[in-house]
Amino acid sequence: MQHKQRQILVTSALPYANGSIHIGHMVEYIQTDIWVRFQKMRGHQCFYVCADDAHGTPIMLRAQEKNISPEALISEMKEEHQNDFNDFAINFDNYHSTHSPENQIFANTIYEKLNNDGHISKKTIKQFYDPNKEMFLPDRFIRGECPKCHAIDQYGDNCEACGATYSPTDLKNPVSVISGEKPIEKESEHYFFKLSNFEEILRKWTRAGHLQTEVVNKLDEWFEAGLQEWDISRDVPYFGFEIPNAPNKYFYVWLDAPIGYLASFRNFCDKEKLDFDYWCKSNSKTEMYHFIGKDIIYFHALFWPAMLHGSGFRTPSAIFAHGFLTVDGQKMSKSRGTFITARTYLDHLNPEYLRYYFAAKLGVGIDDIDLNLDDFLVRVNSDLIGKVINIASRCAGFINKHFDGKLADDIHDPVIQTALTNANQKIAEAYEAREYSKAMREIMVLADKANQYIDHHKPWVIAKQENSEKELQSICTTGINLFRLLIIYLKPVLPNVAIKTEKFLNIEPLKWEDTQTTLLNHQINKFETLMIRVEKEKIEAIIENSKENLTKI
Ligand code: 2FM
Ligand code: ZN
Repeated sequence: MQHKQRQILVTSALPYANGSIHIGHMVEYIQTDIWVRFQKMRGHQCFYVCADDAHGTPIMLRAQEKNISPEALISEMKEEHQNDFNDFAINFDNYHSTHSPENQIFANTIYEKLNNDGHISKKTIKQFYDPNKEMFLPDRFIRGECPKCHAIDQYGDNCEACGATYSPTDLKNPVSVISGEKPIEKESEHYFFKLSNFEEILRKWTRAGHLQTEVVNKLDEWFEAGLQEWDISRDVPYFGFEIPNAPNKYFYVWLDAPIGYLASFRNFCDKEKLDFDYWCKSNSKTEMYHFIGKDIIYFHALFWPAMLHGSGFRTPSAIFAHGFLTVDGQKMSKSRGTFITARTYLDHLNPEYLRYYFAAKLGVGIDDIDLNLDDFLVRVNSDLIGKVINIASRCAGFINKHFDGKLADDIHDPVIQTALTNANQKIAEAYEAREYSKAMREIMVLADKANQYIDHHKPWVIAKQENSEKELQSICTTGINLFRLLIIYLKPVLPNVAIKTEKFLNIEPLKWEDTQTTLLNHQINKFETLMIRVEKEKIEAIIENSKENLTKI
């Protein structure tokens, strides 16, 4: 059972500091958190780090709108994000910010190394400029008429009406979203990362088992199209880090964002007295995994390994991409009330319902996953309450009432106990492979078996028979032990239920290896409700609260 202890560093994508966390984001944090909790339960040394992604034009403008400094905005948002994550039981070992000294040091040293080795070039390019606001405009801050279908009020890079993609200078009648002025074209010198210098290494790396099959296929298309130089600079005014020896030029937010993974871990290592270089320098024997959404694969599977490789850091062991969340089969929508923030959800429902529901849907692929609200209610109530929690409530009362909370010294049915114990390997493999839906299915099959066992032996009937004390105690002890096994298996998904269970069973925090033992001749505590049913009214309240107040407009 005991395997070699692994050393694993895990990250989730860094959320932008200008918006609230919503349930779409939560797919990834829940997916990652389950994996990390599983690794920790297995006895591995596993660290989960994250940070706010604090730089860029949208954050700068948002701060201006609110009449506060960007620093004030990002610190406010960081606190909000951390509260949301905490309340969803996302257990980061460290949560930092990309606007941090560690990140600036790494961004500079990585850039300088790449520059010294000839991987940075300079080119003058033409871009839209807002003469009123005196700043260059990112694509999404320009709107105009689609050059193809002539739909008005379209973004600078693509048309929502016909789906065309184009460059902002092709837009008809462009206007700056910030000032409403007509933008002018203006030249400026930009810095570029020469990605194609790394083509050979990247081709090899992307085929060496670090990526999901669908992702490898996507990358093949990109290699076919040719690796372009990547524009890594932005002109002042910008909220970010100034590029060394390049006055008024800033690193583009996406340059220092992934570096934020390292910065957060560095910050953690300094606090915990861990050897950062041992974990992160090239040839490290440790493992490093990035969980991301499928929209940011290009950054993580091409730019990021190239940057790391070019600057003497280790490359990721793997990148795990996932799909987007839909609600009732459609994109989240403010008017339908399905654009649900983490906080609105938490105001009404238990986070572990959603953790379980996502787990029941998540597999290894990058397909979108759907939160079907009717199915959510049925699934959580029938699986978690009806099957799992029910076992404990069916047995605990008898143990407490008839035996002063004392479990029997034998298992009534070792066959079923062994069957549930033996499932541990299969379930562990499913967790390890991020096949959570498979793990949840396995666990629910076991829960069905446990319920059948109790239905068959009917402790409520035995309790009324004479001279059946011993049998009653041993049946209920078996039930409690089966329940304990199910909770071990579900602990990565339901950490709060697991804590309550540990208290109820009067035991130390459950680890995976505890599947090998039974709880006998042991004093348990009074049973308290571990989880209540999802109520339809609560879901309706969430939708109501999430609806944009359209009448206001
Ligand atoms: O797409 C996003 O939301 C980015 N803020 C993710 C950054 S992930 C990493 F590279 F920092
Ligand atoms: Zn169009």
